[in-house]
Order: sequence, then structure tokens, then C-alpha cells
Amino acid sequence: PIHPPGVRMPPRTHLTAIYPGSFDPITLGHEDIAKRSLRLADQVVVAVAHRATHQKSPLFTVEERLELAREVFGDEARITIASFQGLLVDFAKERGARLIIRGLRAVSDFEYEMQMSLINRRLAGDLETVFMMPSEEYLFVSSSVVKEVASLRGDVSSMAPDFVGRALRDRLPSGGK
Ligand code: PNS
Repeated sequence: PIHPPGVRMPPRTHLTAIYPGSFDPITLGHEDIAKRSLRLADQVVVAVAHRATHQKSPLFTVEERLELAREVFGDEARITIASFQGLLVDFAKERGARLIIRGLRAVSDFEYEMQMSLINRRLAGDLETVFMMPSEEYLFVSSSVVKEVASLRGDVSSMAPDFVGRALRDRLPSGGK
């Protein structure tokens, strides 16, 4: 295999991937990507960011977002849930992860994702970011859309787990459906 100059290939052992995000709240699209990433990695750490770079104030606290994520992956031994503060690359190193997983939906995701992955590479050249396509039915699902639809009393059952829908109805001012 041809390796880029200066890139050292660590031995292929137990491979841990980190799947970071705001998960505010977790959606069926996130679940799809996390489960797909088990095909690449032995262990996947779903890493809930205390504060995302671009987001002002999350709807759910980090503890609530962790709890919803735990409910989704509770029975999956190869997925662990954690929260992190500070730089993603530092947390990835702490966990011994060599891959960062990100879901890529439309072209509109691309610019932001490219910037983030190249910044992360500059900060930690030994981490690789891998982009994964969600299943078609989740191509347009995002936490923002789920929050928007729920706040307008729409049905989010095809986009988020039922307990997330309930959490949204309890939380959003309109009371949901
Ligand atoms: O689900 P999101 O909101 O698109 O996730 C963004 C996230 C949390 C992965 C990103 O904001 C992040 O990694 N934040 C941690 C701080 C950091 O490492 N920033 C440098 C990379 S630009």
C-alpha cells in the first residue's frame, strides 16, 4: 500500500472510532451512522459535545443528551457514550481513537465538514476523519429539523426515536402534539 510521505501507519489492532456531535437531540440519522461505523471500527465512542463550535444554546443539557443517546445504544456493547469539553482531537487521543466519524448528507454539509476535518488534521495529523452516508430515508434528517417540526406540532416519529419525540414534546414551549 502507498502511504503519504511522513504518515506512519500504526499496527492494525483494536480500532476505536469517535463519533462526535451535538446530538441535540439524537436522531434516527445519528443512530444509522453510529451503527454503520461499527463496520469500520471495533469500538465506537459517541461523543456528545458540551458546546459545539457553531451553536449558541442547545435545547437539551449535556446530561439529557447523554441519557437519550444511552437509550438508543443501550444494548450495543461496542458503542459507548461519553461527553467531552475542549478540543475533539484531545478527547479522541484520550480515548485512543484513530478515526473520527462524521455523517455527510447533502452538498450543503460539505464545506463545514471539510473545514472541520482539515482543522482537526492540522491539530492532530494522526487522526483520520471518515465521512459516511446515512440511509436514504435519513438524508434530510437533522436535529434542527426534528426540533422545528416538533415545535410546530408535527410528527417526528420517522426521524427520531419515540422517547426523543416525547422529550421534545415535554421541552418545547408549544407542547408539541
Ligand atoms: O453535531 P455538530 O454540532 O455538527 O458537531 C460539531 C462538533 C461538536 C463535532 C464540533 O463543533 C467539535 O468538534 N467541537 C469541539 C471543539 C473543537 O474541537 N473544535 C475544533 C474543530 S473545528
